[in-house]
Amino acid sequence: MIRPRRNRKSPAVRALVRETTLSASDFIYPLFVHDKNADEAIDSMPGCIRWSIEGLLKEAGEAQALGIPAVVIFPAISEDLKSSDAAQCYNDDGLIPRAIKALKAAYPELCVITDVALDPYNSDGHDGLVAENEHGIIEIINDETVEVLCQQALCHARAGADMVSPSDMMDGRVEAIRTTLDSEGYQDVSILAYTAKYASAYYGPFRGALESTPKAGDKKTYQMDPANVHEAIRETLLDEEEGADIIMVKPAGPYLDVISQVRNATTLPLAAYQVSGEYLMIKAAAKDGWLDEQAVMMESLIGIKRAGADIIVTYFAKQAASCL
Ligand code: PBG
Repeated sequence: MIRPRRNRKSPAVRALVRETTLSASDFIYPLFVHDKNADEAIDSMPGCIRWSIEGLLKEAGEAQALGIPAVVIFPAISEDLKSSDAAQCYNDDGLIPRAIKALKAAYPELCVITDVALDPYNSDGHDGLVAENEHGIIEIINDETVEVLCQQALCHARAGADMVSPSDMMDGRVEAIRTTLDSEGYQDVSILAYTAKYASAYYGPFRGALESTPKAGDKKTYQMDPANVHEAIRETLLDEEEGADIIMVKPAGPYLDVISQVRNATTLPLAAYQVSGEYLMIKAAAKDGWLDEQAVMMESLIGIKRAGADIIVTYFAKQAASCL
């Protein structure tokens, strides 16, 4: 008789036949930073903190000590520095360039990744520049935005970022950023492209963390329709052609089929972003003991890996690395 249970009969046999494994080196750890001297708990994301630069250094150091190779940093910008042209995003003395310099000085081996998009700096809260068309309807203007994104990426490269990560979903930005970086001597700065980023309600807690909720409208004219997967393949082929080094799908858990199909469409490394809402649902369910937090966390991560992701961006990075 054929008995599949023989391959499950002991921890040793299960270890031998295990198809997917998680390692601390799979993780990118997202960190929030603000321009204050004190660290501040984020109400919308229990367990996450808006770090001062000093706090950021301590947290990144702990992550690196656990074997996590990379962090991605997101700035909470004070309201008075936001504007409709988002010009603060390419200020060489701004918060993110200072954070990059501090991180690279303290941990030269840590891979420092930055987010490239205008929302933290834009008084309108959109990832791109906002204009009103002749009917009074708000539009996110693509090509003008891409020019600003190139300035932002260049500013991060000048400060020493290892990788820039455009999360804005404007057309043509990967190629434009690649060309800009190359022409300024930053040919070694990588691009981790948010290739298939969906217009998702799971980003709510993150927008709370940065106070970056759009003032008007939604992000559906640039982020993808959750109903679509062919479009994710189209975006993948484009980003590959435009020079992306790593492709990303976001969110992760509710989009495992997208991860799997994108995996089969490219030979580039594939990342998936377990976003704030996915993190929060697990945290919330575990708070009153409804779910076993650690077990569900690990299962959610292995599922993303099994679907085909090589890399996982997750707020659980440190917690998960500690159990590995
Ligand atoms: C914005 C950006 C968002 C996230 C990462 N970069 C939010 C958005 O697009 O509205 C979401 C991350 C998360 O929810 O954890 N450029």
